[in-house]
Amino acid sequence: MNLFEIDTSTFVVTTPIYYVNDVPHIGSAYTTMAADVMARFQRLRGKSVLFITGTDEHGQKIQRTAEALGRSPQEHCDLIAAKYAALWQQLNISNTRFIRTTTPRHAAIVQEFFQRVWEKGDIYLGQQQGWYCVSCEEFKEERELLDQHRCPLHPTKETEWRDEQNYFFRLSRYQAPLEALYAEDPDFIQPDSRRNEVLSFVSQGLQDFSISRVNIDWGLPFPIDPHHTIYVWFDALLNYITGSLDLEAEPTLDNALAHWGSPTLQLIGKDILRFHAIYWPAMLLSAEMPLPSRIFGHGFLTQNGQKMSKSVGNIIDPFELVDRYGADAVRYYFLKEIEFGKDGDFNQVRFINILNADLANDLGNLLNRTVQMVHKYCNGRVPTVALEAIPADHILQSKATSLNQQVAMAYEALAFSQACEAILSLIRASNKYIDEQAPWTLYKQGQQAAVEQVLYTVLESVRLAAYLLSPIVPTISTAIYQQLGFTDNFNQTAIETLPQYEQHARWGVLPTDQPLPTPQPIFRRLELSDK
Ligand code: ME8
Repeated sequence: MNLFEIDTSTFVVTTPIYYVNDVPHIGSAYTTMAADVMARFQRLRGKSVLFITGTDEHGQKIQRTAEALGRSPQEHCDLIAAKYAALWQQLNISNTRFIRTTTPRHAAIVQEFFQRVWEKGDIYLGQQQGWYCVSCEEFKEERELLDQHRCPLHPTKETEWRDEQNYFFRLSRYQAPLEALYAEDPDFIQPDSRRNEVLSFVSQGLQDFSISRVNIDWGLPFPIDPHHTIYVWFDALLNYITGSLDLEAEPTLDNALAHWGSPTLQLIGKDILRFHAIYWPAMLLSAEMPLPSRIFGHGFLTQNGQKMSKSVGNIIDPFELVDRYGADAVRYYFLKEIEFGKDGDFNQVRFINILNADLANDLGNLLNRTVQMVHKYCNGRVPTVALEAIPADHILQSKATSLNQQVAMAYEALAFSQACEAILSLIRASNKYIDEQAPWTLYKQGQQAAVEQVLYTVLESVRLAAYLLSPIVPTISTAIYQQLGFTDNFNQTAIETLPQYEQHARWGVLPTDQPLPTPQPIFRRLELSDK
C-alpha cells in the first residue's frame, strides 16, 4: 500500500440490514460503528465511499411482532426504522444509504433478480419439511438443534415443525463453484476462523434451500405463484444491490452495478455467516453478477460475560450509553477494547477506566498541559522549529515516522484495536518525554530553543495521533485539531473537505507560528455515577 499517493478508487462497505422486530441494541451498533470507521478511513485515503446500511422489514418475525403490538406491519416497520436512523445519527454514523426492504425500488430489484435466477433454471417447486426458527427465519438441521428442537441461538424459543410446498433455490449446483472461489481467494471470508467454519460446512454437501413461504402475507409477492411470498432472507440479501443504486437511477440490476460495482467489504456478525458466505455468493453466481470482494464475520458481544438477552434483562441500550457518555466514548470502547473478529465483553467499570486512562488522561491532559505551556512560554503560537533541526533519532519523531503505515495496515485489516494501541504508544511516549524533558525547568534555565523543540514535537505527536484516530473518534479529533489552531472538521463527509491521509498522516504538518486558542479540555473525565 503506497500511502503517499491519493487513491481515488471506490470503496463500498455494507452492514447487515437489521430486523425491525425490536428497537436497536448494542450489537447492531457494533457492526455499524466498525463499518463507519472503515468508511471514514477510506475517505481520508481519497476514496469515494458508498456506505450501505438499513432495515430488514419482511417476514414472519416482523409480522408476528406487529400483530402482538396491535400495529399494522408497515406502521411497525416505520416506527422502528426511524429509531435505527436516529441511532445512526446519534452515533455519528456516516452512512450514504439507508435501505428499507419495504420500498418499491427494492421490490423492483428483487423482481428482476428473481427473474434471472428463474430463467437460469435454479428455482423449482418442492416439499419442505423441517424445524423452523422464526427468530432466525431459518430452517435448522436436526443435528444443529438442542433438546426439544430448540435453536442454539434462541434457546428460549421453540422451533416450529413445517411441512409445506415451497420453491427452492438450487444451492447444490453451486457447491463446486463456491469451493473454487474459496480456494482461489483465501481472503474472501475473514477472519480465518470463519473461513474454516464455512469450508467445513460446505464440505459436508450443500442442500437446496427454500426461497418461498406460504401463509405469510408480509413479504414480497412470489413472482410466479400468488400463493407464496418471497423468503425474507432471499429478499434481504438483495438490499446490497438496491443499496448500490444511485439515488436518481432507475432500479435495475445493470444500473446498480454501473457506478459502484459489487461491495468491497461486507461486515456481518458470526450468526449470519452462512447466509453471506454461502447463499449470497451462490445467488450472485446464478444471476451472473459480480461477487463482493471480502466478507468479514465479527464476534459477539456479551455483558459482564453473559449473553445479552431480553429474558435476562441485560440488553445494553445504545441510546442510553450515547446519551450518558457521548458517541466517541462508545465508539472508542468497542473498537479499542475488543479485538475485531473475536467475541468481546461490555463491562461498565472497564468502560469508564479505559476512557479515562486513554482519552481523558493520556491524550486529553497531555494536549491541555502542552497548549498551556505554549501560552506561557511561546506567546500562544506553535513554536518555530525547523524540522531539519530535530535529530533523526528523536524519540517521538522516529516513532511517528513509521506510524502512518502501521496504522493504515491495521485499519485495512480491520484490526481496530491494534490501530488504537499503536497510536496510543506514541501518546504514552510523548507523556514520558515531556515529563523527562521538563520544559518548565528548561524555561527557567533560559533554554528557549530546547523548550520550543519539546513543545513542538509533543504537539505534533498529539496532532498525528488525533488524525490517525479520527475514523474512530471524529469529534474528539476535530476538537484536538481546533486546539491546535486548525479549522478542519473530521465530521465532514465530502472528501474534498477532509484533510487527506497522504498529507496529514505524515510527521511535521503542524505549521509553526500557528496561533493556538485558549486551552479547553477535549474529553471530560467520566464518573461511574454519570447521568
Ligand atoms: O440477522 N454482538 O438481523 P439482526 C455483536 N436481518 N453483534 C451483534 C449482536 C451481538 N450480541 N447481536 C446482533 C439479521 N449483532 C438479518 C440480517 S442481512 C441481509 C440480514 C449484529 O437484526 C451482527 O452484525 O438479527 C449480526 O450479524 C446482526 O447484528 C444481526 O442483526
